[in-house]
Amino acid sequence: MTSNTISLVHRGKILDIKNFDPNEILLNFIRNKLKKTGTKEGCAEGGCGACTVVLGELKNDEINYRAINSCITFLPTLHGKQLIIIEDLISKHGSLHPTQEVMVNSHGSQCGFCTPGFVMSLFSMFKKKSKFNDDEIKDCISGNLCRCTGYQPIIKAAKSLKNKNNIDHFEEIKENTINLLKKISIKSILIVKENKKYFAPTRILELKKIIKKNVNANFLSGGTDLSLSVTKEKKDINSIIYMNSISELNYIKNNVEYIEVGASTPLIDFESYIKKYYPDFTKILKRYGSPQIRNVGTVAGNIATASPIGDCLPLLLSLNSQVVLHSLKKIQALFLDSFFIGYRKTKLKKGQFIHSIRIPLLQNNIFKAYKVSKRFDDDISSVCAAFNLEIVKNRIQSIRIAYGGMAAVPKRAIYCERILLNSLMTEQTIHKAKQALEKDFNPISDMRASRSYRMEIAKNLLEKCCEEIKQKKSIGVYA
Ligand SMILES: Cc1cc2nc3c(=O)[nH]c(=O)nc-3n(C[C@H](O)[C@H](O)[C@H](O)COP(=O)(O)OP(=O)(O)OC[C@H]3O[C@@H](n4cnc5c(N)ncnc54)[C@H](O)[C@@H]3O)c2cc1C
Ligand code: FES
Ligand code: FES
Repeated sequence: MTSNTISLVHRGKILDIKNFDPNEILLNFIRNKLKKTGTKEGCAEGGCGACTVVLGELKNDEINYRAINSCITFLPTLHGKQLIIIEDLISKHGSLHPTQEVMVNSHGSQCGFCTPGFVMSLFSMFKKKSKFNDDEIKDCISGNLCRCTGYQPIIKAAKSLKNKNNIDHFEEIKENTINLLKKISIKSILIVKENKKYFAPTRILELKKIIKKNVNANFLSGGTDLSLSVTKEKKDINSIIYMNSISELNYIKNNVEYIEVGASTPLIDFESYIKKYYPDFTKILKRYGSPQIRNVGTVAGNIATASPIGDCLPLLLSLNSQVVLHSLKKIQALFLDSFFIGYRKTKLKKGQFIHSIRIPLLQNNIFKAYKVSKRFDDDISSVCAAFNLEIVKNRIQSIRIAYGGMAAVPKRAIYCERILLNSLMTEQTIHKAKQALEKDFNPISDMRASRSYRMEIAKNLLEKCCEEIKQKKSIGVYA
């Protein structure tokens, strides 16, 4: 384990960074230490995209480019990666990068505050593929806010990128970048500064040894939740164990009966994988934060945070998923049903970590999920609902319904399920099932939604789900 130094690739060279606070945030490092002020701070909580930078990482001997929010990224997590910031986009001969050129030509910038963030998001898309459709363009910039230009000129700029040759100066030095990344990628690291420690193990075995001696340490995955206690609450985190450095935990497997997702798998990878099995899961994930958030955030982090409005949670609950927990001596699989025990409280014990999540593969079932939020993109749910049913000869043979945003924990609608089980989907049954939701939930009013709005939405989503199923299956339910 190397101490107190991280190495990353920047501007075609290895940059060693020593003697820094393990809680240091990447955006502050870029602006205050690198003295590059093109990357902006808008919200400092991952919501506006002004601070977007791009990371390059080795994947099967190729560089995988991902846009991230530097305002909620801990600096040491950059170890072994390539950092690309807005100033790096101009070539050494002084010419603009194609992603900058199209923004100029389409008048995609007015005050300019959001522009570096937009350009970096476009850059990550441009580096991934040479052809992209309108949905991909919208998705790519869904985590960037602009208050003055409006989005049409920016979308126009992105569309005109399709005609650009994607050989840029990064492509010209790609071999060199790959070699540099190979040189620095495999080490575990330990950073110690005063009373703060940061561990980034690369193996589970090593992780367990670290946990043994640092049982109170905070696990860090994507950091899209944990980092806010530093950036917003101005707290210090004394001991951090970075999970996303462990490649053994970054996997998705199909075990025939269930899909298993390793704890450090980014949501963006899970989002594409699960589409084939549960398209509605992907539909919800597309509206989960932004690509910058999903590029690093994980399902495991979402589960451990246990927020009542965590978007994966009602979906996983309705699918009867399990969470696989490891402690120093024990491995156990718990159903999510019994995992959430109070507001942001779970059964996780000290020193225990989420290893993976198991999602049953239910070939004969219908799975539907809905998210209602104030803004369509990049917003937290007011209510999120998931329905998993098996219908045989028009009768509901099995059913699991779960809601987020309706209680202190993501929760199943047991009374509602009881009404629907073994029933035909008649108007009368649906009405009764909607009424049963009043027994299942007593939601609160907050800044996202009032109590009555939440209840109304929960009922309407149930009805919407039933109507959609009836239309698709042509069930003769009114008979
Ligand atoms: C701008 C923004 C938008 C967001 N939008 C959404 C949204 O639309 N929907 C939504 O549900 N959430 C959203 N979130 C919340 C957040 O992205 C999720 O909760 C995310 O899944 C957390 O995952 P992470 O990997 O980043 O977790 P981290 O921040 O790394 O960790 C979160 C918590 O989980 C613990 N933890 C992490 N990994 C493990 C592990 N393997 N074992 C045990 N404990 C662990 C950490 O110690 C910490 O307490 C948003 C956040 C931001 C900043
Ligand atoms: S400053 Fe707003 S997302 Fe980072
Ligand atoms: S150009 Fe002013 S915020 Fe976008």
